[in-house]
Amino acid sequence: MTTLNLSSKDPARLAADALVIGVRSAGGSATVEGADFLSRSAAESVSRAITLLGVTGDTGQITKIPAGDAVKADLLALVGLGKTVEDEDGRRERLRRAAGSATAALAGTAKVVLALPTDGAQDVGAVAEGALLGSYVYDRPGTDKDSIKAPVGAVEIAAGARSKGLKAALTRAEVTAAAVHAARDLVNTSPNLLYPASFAERAAKAVKGTKVSIKVLDEKQLRDGGYGGITGVGQGSARPPRLVRLSYSPARAKRTVALVGKGITFDSGGLSLKPPKSMETMKSDMAGAAAVLHTVIAAAALELPVAVTGWLALAENLPSATAQRPSDVITIRGGKTVEVLNTDAEGRLVLADALVAAGEEKPDLLVDIATLTGAQMVALGSQVGAVMGTDAERTAVAEAASRAGEQFWPMPLPEELRASLNTPTADLANIGERMGGMLVAGLFLKEFTGGLPWAHLDIAGPAFNEGGARHYVPKGGTGMGVRTLVELLCAVGA
Ligand code: BES
Ligand code: MN
Ligand code: ZN
Repeated sequence: MTTLNLSSKDPARLAADALVIGVRSAGGSATVEGADFLSRSAAESVSRAITLLGVTGDTGQITKIPAGDAVKADLLALVGLGKTVEDEDGRRERLRRAAGSATAALAGTAKVVLALPTDGAQDVGAVAEGALLGSYVYDRPGTDKDSIKAPVGAVEIAAGARSKGLKAALTRAEVTAAAVHAARDLVNTSPNLLYPASFAERAAKAVKGTKVSIKVLDEKQLRDGGYGGITGVGQGSARPPRLVRLSYSPARAKRTVALVGKGITFDSGGLSLKPPKSMETMKSDMAGAAAVLHTVIAAAALELPVAVTGWLALAENLPSATAQRPSDVITIRGGKTVEVLNTDAEGRLVLADALVAAGEEKPDLLVDIATLTGAQMVALGSQVGAVMGTDAERTAVAEAASRAGEQFWPMPLPEELRASLNTPTADLANIGERMGGMLVAGLFLKEFTGGLPWAHLDIAGPAFNEGGARHYVPKGGTGMGVRTLVELLCAVGA
C-alpha cells in the first residue's frame, strides 16, 4: 500500500513528482486556498493558469501544470475543493474527495505532496484517508504486474504545526483505508475464485496475527445447527455454504456489537433465474460480508473498547437439480418457517439464520449489511445506501455515516407492509408487496432480530461502481459500509 507521512516543512521545498494544492470554486472561477507558502511569482503563475485553462475549482477537478523554479516538485496539481460548505462533515468529505482525486489522477508516480487547507487533526485525517482511498488499484490475480498502473508510491501531507491527536487520526485513516481496500479486493475477485469455502479461508488468513478469532461452520454443522436459510440457499451449488463467526473481545469492552454480512458469492437468482444482464454484477453480492470481515479486523487494529462479533453468511445461489424450489418451506434457525416463493430473494434467508445466531448472544446492538434489493437502487440510486431498523439505531448509523463521509439515508419500516409477507403455508413468505420492496425486505429481517436494538443497511447500489471512477471511488467494488461501521464502533466505544 501507499506509504503516508506528515511533514511540517515548507511544501515548496519538498522534492516530489507533484505538489498538490487546493482551489476553491467561487463565482464560476477558482481561487487558491491554503497555499500561502507559494512565492509571489509562483502564486501569479498559478492564477494565470487558472484563468487560461478555465479551472473552476469543482470538487475533484484536477489540473496539472509544470511547477517552475519556485517549487521543488516537478508538477503542480491543482485540485478542486468545491464551494465553501458550512457543516464540518461536508467540509471533511470535500477534503477526502480532493485528496483522493489527486492520488487517483497521479497514479504511477513515486511521490506526491499534499498541501491542502486543513484545520486540526481531524482534517488531516480526512486528507490522509482520502489520499489512501484514491490510491487503490485492484491487484488482479494472474496479471503481469507491469501492465497495471501502480498506485502513488508515497504521500506526504503538509500538516503545518503538530496538532493534538494527529497521530491517532493518521492511524485511524490508515487502518480504515486498509479495511476498505481489502473489502474492495474481495468484491472484485471473480466468483470462480471466491466461493463460500475460499471466502472462509481468506477470512482465516486475514485474521492471522490479529486479535480476532474465527470459527467456521461447514455445511454439515449448518444442517445440524438448524440453519435452514443458509443450507437452503446453498444447496443448489456444488460449492457448499459456510457461516463464519469472527470475534474481537477486548478485556475492557464497554459494549457488545454484532455485525452480520450477506455473503452470496454469486447470485444467479437460483431457479428464479435472473436475466443475464442482471447477473453481470452479482459477484458483488457478498459485499456486506466483506465489509463486516474487514470492519472487525479494523476494530481490533484500533483496539476499540467494544466487543465485536462478525457473522459472514456465505452461500452461492445457483440453479441445479439440488436447488431449492419456489414454494419450498424451510426452517430458519430458531424455528420460524419460511415459504421460499422466489429463490432470488435469497439474501434475507441467509441473513435470517445469521441474525438469529448473532442474537442468541444478546449483543447490545445488532447491525446487518447487505446488497439486499434492487428496490434500494430504485429508491436511492447507486451512490446512496439505506438504513432501516429501530429508531435510535437507525439515527446512530445515519449520523456515523455522515461523519465518515458515506451516504446512508434513513428509511421507514411501515408496519402495514408486513401483512404482504403472510402465507397460509408457513410463518412468513420470503417475498411480499413489490412496491417498497426494500422496506418489505427490512420487515422480513426484523422478524429475526428478537426485538434487539438493530440497524439494517442495504447497499445494493453503492457496493459496486458500474460507472467510471470518481474522486476516491474506483470502478468495481467500493468498500461501501466499512467507514460507517468503523465510525459507529468508535462512537459506541466513546
Ligand atoms: N442480490 C440481489 C439484489 C441486488 C440487485 C443487489 C441489484 C445489487 C444489484 C437480491 O438477492 C435480489 O435478487 N433481490 C430481488 C428480490 C426480489 C425477488 C423480491 C430483487 O431485488 O429483485
Ligand atoms: Mn437474489
Ligand atoms: Zn442477492
